[in-house]
Amino acid sequence: MPALTPPEIPAGSLAASGQPTLTVGGGALLRPWLIGDAQAVVEAFGDPAIQRWHVRRADSVDEARGWIRRWQGTWGDETEGHWAVAGADTGTLLGRLSLKAWNLTDGTAEVAYWTVPAARGSGICPRAVTALAEWALGEGGFHRLELEHSTANEASCRVAAKAGFEAEGVRRGAALHVDGWHDMHLHARVAPE
Ligand SMILES: CC(C)(COP(=O)(O)OP(=O)(O)OC[C@H]1O[C@@H](n2cnc3c(N)ncnc32)[C@H](O)[C@@H]1OP(=O)(O)O)[C@@H](O)C(=O)NCCC(=O)NCCS
Repeated sequence: MPALTPPEIPAGSLAASGQPTLTVGGGALLRPWLIGDAQAVVEAFGDPAIQRWHVRRADSVDEARGWIRRWQGTWGDETEGHWAVAGADTGTLLGRLSLKAWNLTDGTAEVAYWTVPAARGSGICPRAVTALAEWALGEGGFHRLELEHSTANEASCRVAAKAGFEAEGVRRGAALHVDGWHDMHLHARVAPE
């Protein structure tokens, strides 16, 4: 059954262009993950707030290496993009930013993130989300990026607002957390016409 519209992002084009490294400002950058980040990922997932909102823990460096290998492979599959937020000079891990659930036909994807406890409160996450959204909705060719967080996660709502993702509504009982079902606040940023 032939489609009546062309795909927003031609299949193969993002894999061919390779995953970009992006400048975030304030001495940080977004870069592809390195296997050497595994220890820092284990430490990040020891944080109760990351466990609470990402509903996962890391039990060993080996397990984190496995996650990183998967994060490194999804760009070539054109299914997801995963970046480490890192100090440009130090290489220290400051956080994680992902573009998940790619739909190349409609040009859509979902943004997810965390920052390590020591890096919180200085605006690094909204700056990183802004840099990624500007690349994705520009050169990357995406049309619409969605971002959602539990209605109980006010810090994440601030990140969305500061990165220019407009609130679109609440999806009731949409995500299971350790303490039960949470209503999820949906935000989105759409490419300019
Ligand atoms: C949500 C999160 C990514 C914000 O990242 P960040 O780089 O600290 O972002 P900001 O510095 O812009 O802070 C965002 C808001 O967090 C709050 N905040 C400020 N200092 C903080 C601190 N030391 N610790 C936690 N939150 C803080 C503030 O309300 C701030 O909003 P404001 O700018 O209006 O004051 C980070 O707190 C985090 O990783 N939390 C745990 C995991 C999580 O919630 N992930 C998102 C799931 S949807």
